[in-house]
Amino acid sequence: MDYKKELLIPREVIAERIKELAEAIEEEYRGKELILIGILKGAVFFLTDLARELSLPIKLDFIRVASYGSGMEPGSISLTKDVELSVEGKPVLIVEDIVDTGQTLSYVKELLESKGAESVKVCVLIDKKERREKQINIDYCAFRVEKGFLVGYGLDYNEEGRCLPEIYVLKECK
Ligand code: PRP
Repeated sequence: MDYKKELLIPREVIAERIKELAEAIEEEYRGKELILIGILKGAVFFLTDLARELSLPIKLDFIRVASYGSGMEPGSISLTKDVELSVEGKPVLIVEDIVDTGQTLSYVKELLESKGAESVKVCVLIDKKERREKQINIDYCAFRVEKGFLVGYGLDYNEEGRCLPEIYVLKECK
């Protein structure tokens, strides 16, 4: 199948929205040291841009999970790289590129809660509702999108398109 990409969210719009999110996050965590945890690999661009907008003491860590496709039972997610910092007693903000079925975020959130974090909140670039299976509370969201296959700014299609500086929707070529 051939696809063409159509621009959905330009880079200036992403940058502006990240500034707004950073202001809201600073408001909530003022006076605290915050641990930002990015879910590899897609969240890398969003995490680094967001972190540089935050005027807070920040520590960074990363986590990676493998998911075995939407056709399988819940629980088909496994941890392939754990966090390295101790989150016990600390406020944690998970930073994710996209919430689709919700399986990844709910797994990661439960894992960090089980490690005794003071709080575990969630910040996503894209909340895409179309295939949601697990309800998850999203504390900070840059953009809500009903459906479509997205690439760019961390989002990939078979590892392609991830490094594009803006977000595109893939459309099937007839
Ligand atoms: C993608 C995306 C999210 C997850 C969202 O990751 O980056 O982590 O899927 O899907 P879900 O809500 O249905 O769980 P992927 O496993 O493709 O890894 P990547 O970030 O390395 O691209």
